[in-house]
Amino acid sequence: MKIFVTGCTGYIGSHTCVELLNAGYEVVGLDNFSNSKREVLDKIKEITNKEIKFYEGDMLDENILDKIMNDNNIDIVIDFAAFKAVGDSVEHPISYYINNVSSVLTLIKVMQKHNVKKLIFSSSATVYGKQEIMPITEDMPVGNTTNPYGTSKLFVEHILEDLCASDNEFKVIIFRYFNPVGAHKSGLIGENPNGIPANLMPFIAKVATKELECLNVFGNDYNTPDGTGVRDYIHIVDLAKAHLSGIQKLNEIKGGLLIYNLGTGHGYSVLEMINTFEKANNVKINYKIAPRRSGDIDVCFADSSKAQKELNWTATLDLEDMCKDAYNFVIKNK
Ligand code: NAD
Ligand code: UD1
Repeated sequence: MKIFVTGCTGYIGSHTCVELLNAGYEVVGLDNFSNSKREVLDKIKEITNKEIKFYEGDMLDENILDKIMNDNNIDIVIDFAAFKAVGDSVEHPISYYINNVSSVLTLIKVMQKHNVKKLIFSSSATVYGKQEIMPITEDMPVGNTTNPYGTSKLFVEHILEDLCASDNEFKVIIFRYFNPVGAHKSGLIGENPNGIPANLMPFIAKVATKELECLNVFGNDYNTPDGTGVRDYIHIVDLAKAHLSGIQKLNEIKGGLLIYNLGTGHGYSVLEMINTFEKANNVKINYKIAPRRSGDIDVCFADSSKAQKELNWTATLDLEDMCKDAYNFVIKNK
């Protein structure tokens, strides 16, 4: 079976390609390297001993999508290609709407032309906005996104709902990822943000290696047990494996749209993250309490029982694995 993966050299795309290749799927990939490096292709090959059939190009370019569909008998598309930096999206909203929404419209148009009707789309827990009740289930209301990045994901979710309502043969899975962290055990692929990381785990890892001096803990007056923000961190390899379960599901159903949270169901605070990272890697994390980051919420963690029940998928790696693998990756890629 041939799987077309957009954004295949990015953080989640690369780990998913490894799992797909290991499971015996043929993988066709597209990336424009706007947030990744070509060398990731070699790393994927080194890990799996197999190769992706790779196309360099932009998902906004209908011609390259058309060529990919013509050259390959694609069964399923997994769409990871998007911009994802929250702060950047506030400064450049139109780029985000073009890259994250228009590109999906182009993709769907080409899929329809070639009668490819199975899609897995990468959405985010950010579509839930601020919820009063935890854990978050898929039927809780979405909306009230606080930035253009989140809104771009919400728009695509609505587009996919309308698509499935208009064509009962279309099969779509929307995965709402919580906080993916960590790296492949090999340390060959992982999260490699340009510049200073905006997210917690890559920042902690760079403080551990002394590339960064001190972690700012954004607020210790939240409504949580230790006052720092609580999130549902999930190991990237567990997250990648969920896509295998998604493929199986798409092959079973007749049509329609399914939505699944991907998290562990456990929330950890920033201070718990720091403590676990220190113990797991025997390092010291220099940190100080800083003001809250604008737009942050107190607590966010998933109820992932729907994915467990319907996809037979569950996260198996714990916070210690996430911390060890994140550190291993930064050490090997300094
Ligand atoms: P990433 O930036 O590492 O990977 C995205 C990849 O897509 C990059 O390799 C980039 O070069 C490529 N890309 C971007 N726009 C493109 C375009 N127009 N044409 C071709 N290639 C393009 O991001 P990621 O963390 O791997 O995220 C993958 C998906 O998951 C994104 O849609 C993101 O919004 C979503 N998501 C990520 C997280 C997270 O924490 N990482 C959480 C929730 C949702
Ligand atoms: C962020 C994005 C969210 C995206 C998610 C995916 C923002 C506002 N939100 O969520 O849209 O879907 O990543 O991974 O960027 N923290 C610190 N110091 C730091 C960095 C973070 O204390 O230097 C704290 C934050 O306040 C938060 C926790 O660590 O409590 C996690 O932050 P982060 O990794 O940025 O993820 P989210 O805020 O959950």
